Amino acid sequence: MAQIASDRQWIDVAARDDLEDDDVIKVEANGKSIAIFLVEKKYYAIDDGCTHELASLSEGYLEDTVIECPLHQGAFCIKTGRALHAPAEEPVNTYDVEVKDERIFIRV
Ligand code: FES
Repeated sequence: MAQIASDRQWIDVAARDDLEDDDVIKVEANGKSIAIFLVEKKYYAIDDGCTHELASLSEGYLEDTVIECPLHQGAFCIKTGRALHAPAEEPVNTYDVEVKDERIFIRV
């Protein structure tokens, strides 16, 4: 069953300094592995797990707002979670991100 937005909580997951521009880190929050990106001074968060098979998207290749899976080169939009390139077909979940007092929070 899909989790509705109002059930989500803001969770402190990293320091702002943990991410450089055009960078990605993997964090754990509420039992989920989540990839957080900083691209052109904007933060994005998606599920770290590829929807095709078992691979960590934070270990993939980031170009602009597209992350390429390291295993079979499927690709996802980090803004929308949409699968952009086969063999990935199903989207990944996206999460809201906020920065406050030099800390990064995601709503999970
Ligand atoms: S595991 Fe990501 S494209 Fe296959």
